[in-house]
Amino acid sequence: MHLKITRPDDWHVHLRDGDALKSVVPMTARQFARAIVMPNLVPPVTTTAQAQAYRARILAEVPGDVAFTPLMTLYLTDNTDPGEIERAQASRIVHGVKLYPAGATTNSESGVTDLTGLDTTLDAMAECGLPLLVHGEVTDAGVDIFDREAVFLERVLSPLLDRHPKLRIVLEHITTEQAVRFVRDAPDTVAATITAHHLLYNRNALFRGGIRPHHYCLPILKREQHREALLNIVASGHPRFFLGTDSAPHERSAKETACGCAGIFTAHAALELYATALEACGALDRLEGFASHFGADFYRMPRNTASVTLMKDPWTVPDRYRFDGGAVIPLGAGETLTWRLLGPESHSTV
Ligand code: DOR
Ligand code: ZN
Repeated sequence: MHLKITRPDDWHVHLRDGDALKSVVPMTARQFARAIVMPNLVPPVTTTAQAQAYRARILAEVPGDVAFTPLMTLYLTDNTDPGEIERAQASRIVHGVKLYPAGATTNSESGVTDLTGLDTTLDAMAECGLPLLVHGEVTDAGVDIFDREAVFLERVLSPLLDRHPKLRIVLEHITTEQAVRFVRDAPDTVAATITAHHLLYNRNALFRGGIRPHHYCLPILKREQHREALLNIVASGHPRFFLGTDSAPHERSAKETACGCAGIFTAHAALELYATALEACGALDRLEGFASHFGADFYRMPRNTASVTLMKDPWTVPDRYRFDGGAVIPLGAGETLTWRLLGPESHSTV
C-alpha cells in the first residue's frame, strides 16, 4: 500500500548546534521541505544576526541531494525591543518569535519573566504579522505539572489575546483537551502544533515497567482523554491544527541520569509516526492537510509542490543513532514501524 502526499513541513523542531547538527539536520531535511527551527540554544538566538549565522550553520549540514529550507525564529527575552522585530521582519529569514516563560523547559532561563513589559514589542509583531510561538505552560511550582498547560490558557494566553487581538499566535505542542478547545474557539489568528508523541502516547508510557526517561518531554504526556482530544481534532481536519514534531534530541547520558532532560527525539521517523497515529484512528486521509497544507497556509507561505510517498513496508527502528559524540535514543527504538518514507538513504547508527 502506498500513500502519496504533498511534501510536508515541520512547524516546530530543535536542531541544536555544533556537532549535533550533523546527525539531525539530514534527518529533518530528508523528511521535510521546511522547518521552523527553535532558538533555545546556549546562548539563545535572540537577534536577527544570530539567526542568520545559525541558519548558515544548518544549511552547511543539508545533504546535497535534498532541498530544505530552515525557517528561523528569535528567542523572546524581557529585553527584545521593537527594533529587533523590524530587523527580523526585514531579513525575510525569521518567521516567528518564541515565547518561553522563564524556567518552563530546556534552556528557558533567559525567557520572559513578565509578558506585560513587552507590549510594544508584541504590537510591532502584530503590526508586521510575525507570529508569536508559545510554550504554553505556567512555571509556578505550586501548579501540578499535569495542569500547567490548562492553567496557562487562563492565566496568560487569554489575557494576552485580549491585550493583542491582532497578534498571530501558534500555541506549540498542545497536549490537553483544554488547549484543543481554546484554539478551536479562538479567532483565526490562533493556531496550534501537535507532536507525534502526544498523538501516540499517554502518560502511562512514562512509567511502563519502570521510569522511562526517553518518554519525558515538556509539556509532559497527559491522560488518555487528552490524547483522544488531540487525535479527534486532527481527524476532524481542522485547518488551524498542524504538524510540529518538537523533535528534541539529547545525548543519551543527559536523559538516562538522576535528573534527565526533557525532550523526545522523533526526526528519524516523524512522518511514519504521524501516519501510524492517524491510521490507528481511521484518519489517514487527514495526514496530508495536517502535515503539508495547514501550516503553510497559517504561516502565509506557498504549499510545497513536490510530493513524498509512504509505503507499508515494516522496518525496525535502530536502538540509537550517532549524536554529538555519543548517541541519541529515538522514539520507538527497537520497535517495528509499519510505514516507511521512501527516499534517500538512512542514517548512521552507533
Ligand atoms: O521536551 C522538550 N524539549 N520541551 C521543550 O519545550 C524543549 C525541548 C528541548 O529543547 O529539549
Ligand atoms: Zn520545542
